[in-house]
Amino acid sequence: MISYIGGKSRMSKWICEYIPEDIETYVEVFGGAFWVYVNGDIHEKPKLKEVIYNDFNRYMVNLFECCRTPEEFHKFMIDLKAQNEKLFYKFQKDIFKNKDISKIELGDFEFGQKYAYIMTQVFSGLNAEKAKFIDLKGKYKSKFDSFRGRLVNPKFTKKLLKITQCENLSYEEVIEKYDSPKTYFYCDPPYWKTENYYSLHDFDVEDHKKLCTQLSNIKGRFSLSYYEFDLLSEWLPKDKFKWESREFVKAAAAQKGKEQSKGTEILVMNYK
Ligand SMILES: C[S@@+](CC[C@H](N)C(=O)[O-])C[C@H]1O[C@@H](n2cnc3c(N)ncnc32)[C@H](O)[C@@H]1O
Repeated sequence: MISYIGGKSRMSKWICEYIPEDIETYVEVFGGAFWVYVNGDIHEKPKLKEVIYNDFNRYMVNLFECCRTPEEFHKFMIDLKAQNEKLFYKFQKDIFKNKDISKIELGDFEFGQKYAYIMTQVFSGLNAEKAKFIDLKGKYKSKFDSFRGRLVNPKFTKKLLKITQCENLSYEEVIEKYDSPKTYFYCDPPYWKTENYYSLHDFDVEDHKKLCTQLSNIKGRFSLSYYEFDLLSEWLPKDKFKWESREFVKAAAAQKGKEQSKGTEILVMNYK
């Protein structure tokens, strides 16, 4: 829905190819900007009953709780002027200094609009607390306008309206809560060694190992996105789990005039 560090917008179609038809509950354990669901066709699975968004980052969870009622959220923001420097700094102060996110009840439109305003006007949502205003000088379409437009675009609204629950749990809790033979977990954890991008939480080596161990023992099915690192094949051996890989241009390198550096995306699954 918005640019996000590690967002899977360009890989969503590839990942969705592996999601089985008969799932009843779909859970994105590390939801972020929810690109696999939002850009994919999971909402069309014939037996789908529940779509669960989860993230440890309560700012993002509040945003998706607002997006669950897209028309109302759009109406709430309709008069807001994009690309306004004063508003940008006012909202940045309001949400990161004046208010305490842990006390915000999920689905707070005012908080959600301010957060979306900041996140869509800083590079990939990076360093949102401190980032400076970028004046597009009318040369490019504002990403805030693109975000707001998605809330009334049927291509997106038909998916947003199917989100049944937005959870603000840590990965181990949400996996435990929704595990069943009919559940599908898509997991896109902070990448190995890039954990500190997500300033709200440290995701360390132990967490990576714990996640892989927990996933090895669930009743449901999962797919797990990573770039390859040595320990991964120790935790999820290639003869026991299905491994797929594909080369993608790295987001940071997908810029005009720069050589396109590629990275190999890995998808590990516990089913054929
Ligand atoms: C790579 S991003 C997910 C990007 C997402 N797939 C997308 O397309 O936008 C990883 C996400 O994991 C979240 N996260 C970090 N630690 C977590 C934890 N312990 N439990 C749940 N989510 C966590 C971060 O807040 C971040 O949004």
